[in-house]
Amino acid sequence: MSLNVVALAGSPRARSFTHRLLEAFLEGTGEGTAVERFDLRELKINACQGCFACWFVTPGRCAQEDDFPRVAASLDRADAVILAAPLYFDGLPGPVKTLLDRCVCGVEPYFSVDRQGRSVHRSNRLLAGGSRQAAVLISTCGFPELANFAPLEEHFRAICRNASWDEGGSLLVAGAGFLDPAGRRQEVLDLAARAGEGFAVARHIPAAVQQRMRGPWVDAAAARQAMNHFFARRLGHERPPPD
Ligand SMILES: Cc1cc2nc3c(=O)[nH]c(=O)nc-3n(C[C@H](O)[C@H](O)[C@H](O)COP(=O)(O)O)c2cc1C
Repeated sequence: MSLNVVALAGSPRARSFTHRLLEAFLEGTGEGTAVERFDLRELKINACQGCFACWFVTPGRCAQEDDFPRVAASLDRADAVILAAPLYFDGLPGPVKTLLDRCVCGVEPYFSVDRQGRSVHRSNRLLAGGSRQAAVLISTCGFPELANFAPLEEHFRAICRNASWDEGGSLLVAGAGFLDPAGRRQEVLDLAARAGEGFAVARHIPAAVQQRMRGPWVDAAAARQAMNHFFARRLGHERPPPD
């Protein structure tokens, strides 16, 4: 059975390693997967104005004219959403958050209650008889410790609840800037492809692959030292400051 995937490429950088991971993952999903990719850095998506016109004036449709409706239409059709974004200030880069905010038009205003007894809006897609979608998070960060992802992992869990997405797993790579010197880059990309392969079968990344991706890939002290020497060279300093 073919899989329709929307890939949201959320790094503002043209040469993004997070996007390389996304590409390896998508390649891994195989030929049965149809991919629509959106590079958010190339789109004009304005911030939500909080006017609620999408609830009360033109239900389901935002009043703003920009690239959002195109993304929203693809999201509507998708079986799965792959969210690829580097860690910025312990969370999502602004353009990704901006896109997610705009998705408020994809839920109905009425408060409902979920299985945990928490208030929730129901998704328009599910109310219209559509099926649940799976979502995957792919992220990288500069600091070498996996713990840096804790706030983003929590946020992703909450986003899935809010958007009625099934959690399809995450691929998180800490110390991404040091993978090359540590000789681990290709290994990480191969693992992303395996993750894609598993996801295409089960709509969930195998737990063992997710765990392996969490590393550690680099020694934190060695990465700190090497990165500091790199920064000192770039800054024209004789040596880095002490820890
Ligand atoms: C504005 C900004 C904020 C960042 N904040 C964090 C952070 O909070 N923690 C961290 O470990 N790395 C942080 N980083 C580093 C990036 O997450 C890291 O370089 C990432 O691998 C870049 O991914 P990309 O190559 O896909 O753009 C930040 C980078 C930028 C530009």
